[in-house]
Amino acid sequence: MNSIPKQKKQISLSQFIIEEQLKIPGASGEFSALLNHLVYASKIVAREVRKAGLLHDILGSTDETNVQGETQMKLDQYADNAFNQSLKICGHLCALASEEHEEIIPIPSGYAIGKYTMAIDPLDGSSNIDTNVSIGTIFSIHQRLEPSSKAPGTEKDLLQKGSLQRCAGYIIYGSSTMLVLSTGKSVVGFTLDPSLGEFLLSHPDMKMPDSGSIYSANEGNASYWGKEVQDYIAHIKSIEGGKKPKTGRYIGSLVADFHRNLLKGGIFLYPNDTKSSKYPNGKLRLLYEAAPMAYIAEQAGGMAVTVKGERILDLEPKSLHERTTLVIGSKQEVLEFLSFVK
Ligand code: AHG
Ligand code: MN
Ligand code: MN
Repeated sequence: MNSIPKQKKQISLSQFIIEEQLKIPGASGEFSALLNHLVYASKIVAREVRKAGLLHDILGSTDETNVQGETQMKLDQYADNAFNQSLKICGHLCALASEEHEEIIPIPSGYAIGKYTMAIDPLDGSSNIDTNVSIGTIFSIHQRLEPSSKAPGTEKDLLQKGSLQRCAGYIIYGSSTMLVLSTGKSVVGFTLDPSLGEFLLSHPDMKMPDSGSIYSANEGNASYWGKEVQDYIAHIKSIEGGKKPKTGRYIGSLVADFHRNLLKGGIFLYPNDTKSSKYPNGKLRLLYEAAPMAYIAEQAGGMAVTVKGERILDLEPKSLHERTTLVIGSKQEVLEFLSFVK
């Protein structure tokens, strides 16, 4: 008799979340349910990204600008709606912040108020949408300051430092769709199987190589950078003494640039403009870009600092859309950068 071929054991994200929940005595399941709502919305966005340009009029920009004065793309708005609709009524959040909304998004009346807050960049890499280049979503979850409170959450609940995140992660809509997250124990990656509509565990324990040969920065801005950053970049490109220069790779979507460097090793820099008034504090937003990526980086053995050398996870956010400089990547590379900081 023919035996049934052995099937490789595949763990879905839903299974993984249940197993993880079982390891925490007394866990209420609230956090697991919150993640499930996030995952559901991410599948809706992934579906739309995959067929952008085909059936729907989803490419291109809208006539609107967001709170930061940036033109909103149609897909920015679509993703923002998909995540908001799913998350604000899920019963596990007390407040939600999104790149696309100036103020916090309250929980609609009649819906349960939970003990978590989420800050989200619904669509990261907007400038790449129309050109079929990888884009992403970034999220950061904190527990509210008074976990037992049933009152609506406030801005204070969201303005907590990155080191206090309960979970952070991103979704990359690339050659495949992947969800990478950490709850503070390790970094795990799941790949969306489009035929099942399920994220399956594909990267059980992601570690960033201790060093790496890739550097990622928008060098078009190099003349605006401070001297320390300019000196560091000149150093890693130098061939003095037979040194091999690093390899430049820059996509312009933080999620995709970070994901590549997480797998291959390297460093990503978004410094501030010291000679123009465009981004005096850097471009990336602390709450929903820098802090969640820094959390993943550290959990994977990497580091994340500002151009002044401060640890990103120690920064105390002062406002929802505050910007920061970001230097993030393999430990040895970030340490080398720090040796250039006065
Ligand atoms: P968003 O699309 O969410 O506004 O973020 C864009 C960010 C980030 O993804 C990327 O690293 C950076 O902007 C790219 O900026 P430049 O085009 O200035 O290089
Ligand atoms: Mn972004
Ligand atoms: Mn965005």
